[in-house]
Amino acid sequence: MKVSGIFLSMIFAFTLVMAAAGQGIRAENKKGVSTVKIAQENEMDQQVLVAYASKYGSTQEVAEAVAEVLRGRGLEVDLQHMPEVRSLARYDAFVLGAPLYMFRWHKDARRFLSRHRKALTKRPVAIFALGPITPGDAEEWQASCEQLDKELARRPWLTPVVVEMFGGRIDHSKMSFPYSLIMSEVPASDLRDWTAIRAWAGKLPVVLQLEAPKADGTDAG
Ligand SMILES: Cc1cc2nc3c(=O)[nH]c(=O)nc-3n(C[C@H](O)[C@H](O)[C@H](O)COP(=O)(O)O)c2cc1C
Repeated sequence: MKVSGIFLSMIFAFTLVMAAAGQGIRAENKKGVSTVKIAQENEMDQQVLVAYASKYGSTQEVAEAVAEVLRGRGLEVDLQHMPEVRSLARYDAFVLGAPLYMFRWHKDARRFLSRHRKALTKRPVAIFALGPITPGDAEEWQASCEQLDKELARRPWLTPVVVEMFGGRIDHSKMSFPYSLIMSEVPASDLRDWTAIRAWAGKLPVVLQLEAPKADGTDAG
C-alpha cells in the first residue's frame, strides 16, 4: 500500500511526542448526543440512523448535512454520535460516517461496528469517511481510500451498499496536545465539498432501498 508522506510524517511525529510525554492519548472528547426526529408532513414509516464519530467536529457537520438531505426526502432520520447509540432495532437503514486518524477509522466507529455487528448485517448500510487534508494531493486521497478499504476488509461481514471518501478539515484552534504539536506544521484546510456531500446524500434513498428509482432511470439527487 502506498501511503502519502504527510500521514507517515504524522505518525512519526506522534511516536516521538508520545515517547517524550510518556502518556497516552487524551481520551476522545465526549460529544453530546444530537438526536433529532422530524416528523415530515408526508411521513413515511422508514427510519434511518445517521451515526457519526468525530473528534474535532468536521465529520459531525457532514453527518448533519446528510441527515438534512434525507429529511428533505421525507424520511425519518435520527442523527446520533456513535458512542451514544444503544439499539439499531428500529431502523430500516444506516449511514455511518467517521474520520480517519493515524491510518485507522476513528475508534468510536470501530467499536460501533463491533457492538452492532449483528444488526448491521440485516439492513442496508452506507459508509463515508473523512481523511484527505492537502488540496490537490491525489496520492494522499488514494492513501486515505486505501486506509478505509483496509478497515472494511478486516470486516468481511460488513457489506456496505456504498462507500465514499470526503475531504477533511484541519483546524488548529480546536486541537489540544498531542495533536496540536503533531499537526503544527500541517497547514489549516477544509476540503469538504458540500455540493458533493449533498449530492451523495441525495442518492442514498435509492441505494439504501428506501425510495424507488425514478421511471426515467435517474435518482432524485
Ligand atoms: C492527528 C491527525 C491524524 C490524522 N490521520 C489521518 C490519517 O491517518 N488518514 C487520513 O486520511 N486522514 C487523517 N487525518 C485527517 C482527518 O481525518 C481529518 O482532519 C478529519 O476531517 C477529522 O475529522 P473530525 O473533525 O470529525 O475529527 C488526521 C488528522 C489529524 C488531526
